[in-house]
Amino acid sequence: MRKYTKKSSMLMIVSLMIMLFSGCTGDKYSNANQRGKKDFKVGMVLYNAEDTFISYIRDMVDYYIELYEDEAGVNIELEVLDSANNQALQNTQIDHFIKNGYDVILANTVDREEASMIIDKVQKAKIDTIFFNREPVPQDMKKWNRIYYVGSSAEEAGRMQGEILVDAINNGLELDKNKDGKIQYVMIEGEYGHQDAILRTYHCIKVLEENGLNMENLATDTGRWFKKEAKEKMENWLEEFGDKIEIVLANNDEMALGAIEAMKAYDYFNGDQWIPVIGVDGVDEALEAIEAGTMIGTILNDYDEQAKCIVYKLYQCIGVNDLNINISTQEKDNYFWVKHKKVTKENVNTVKKHNSILKK
Ligand code: GAL
Ligand code: CA
Repeated sequence: MRKYTKKSSMLMIVSLMIMLFSGCTGDKYSNANQRGKKDFKVGMVLYNAEDTFISYIRDMVDYYIELYEDEAGVNIELEVLDSANNQALQNTQIDHFIKNGYDVILANTVDREEASMIIDKVQKAKIDTIFFNREPVPQDMKKWNRIYYVGSSAEEAGRMQGEILVDAINNGLELDKNKDGKIQYVMIEGEYGHQDAILRTYHCIKVLEENGLNMENLATDTGRWFKKEAKEKMENWLEEFGDKIEIVLANNDEMALGAIEAMKAYDYFNGDQWIPVIGVDGVDEALEAIEAGTMIGTILNDYDEQAKCIVYKLYQCIGVNDLNINISTQEKDNYFWVKHKKVTKENVNTVKKHNSILKK
């Protein structure tokens, strides 16, 4: 009996706190729990479900939603739709969520500049929306106070790539094979126009130059984030430049792995013929390549923390503000900027271990 009383007064305090401090001040759901609403529908759109890194985020969001349902005392039905690289299709998927009364939308836009249209729609329908990975432009983010963004800084990832290489050189890695005082490199970029492609490339090279390296670009092309496309580009470059290439810089791991596959087909890594390769993301196969020594390093694009931030915000949006969920990223002006981490042979084991615990 006493327990019951204590519990109900606790509930009242919690509900009051939700009313006072709700992150989503929406008229519709900020006090959802008080009104006893228990069943929620969340719609998630992915720019392209075949993208490896995006599939990691999807899996972890799914995992954390479920993990916290009991504690929150709610049921959440998550519907995930693949926009298959088609913004027009994605717009109809958003319409479907709106028409069917979804409570929160998680949006990974195809074209980040089209976020504006989505924002107009969700604002009209009063549906809190969390964008992730593909950052809407700042003007669009300012359109409404119930839209959020979870992602990582592209500049930081690029800088860290440069720093890993500078460290490796300081520790004796000899990049300038032909001793001409320049580092001949090829760059495999992500999709045109994507913030992570433009800024990672720019800042990686900038750090290398700031550290006194004379960088000479042999070729730059896009692999659109995919292994297969990067492999084809790399095969062409091996034909054209062969051993003149002194380093392969890739905007993500999948493309770095594609370059390695191409090199394997050209008999690299067999004996002492190799070209260092670096990526971004920290996908499992890249961690294995770092262990095996075919990849020099990667930058962990912390999908676990990103998924946690998405789920943390999502629960707030449905009125659950007191979850015992540990995130290390602070929300600032509706943004969650999740920090990257450098991964090399020295620490690859700890990152691998962490990932395998998560995937259980
Ligand atoms: C990047 C990631 C890429 C790709 C892209 C999709 O952050 O590094 O691998 O997933 O997002 O938007
Ligand atoms: Ca050289």
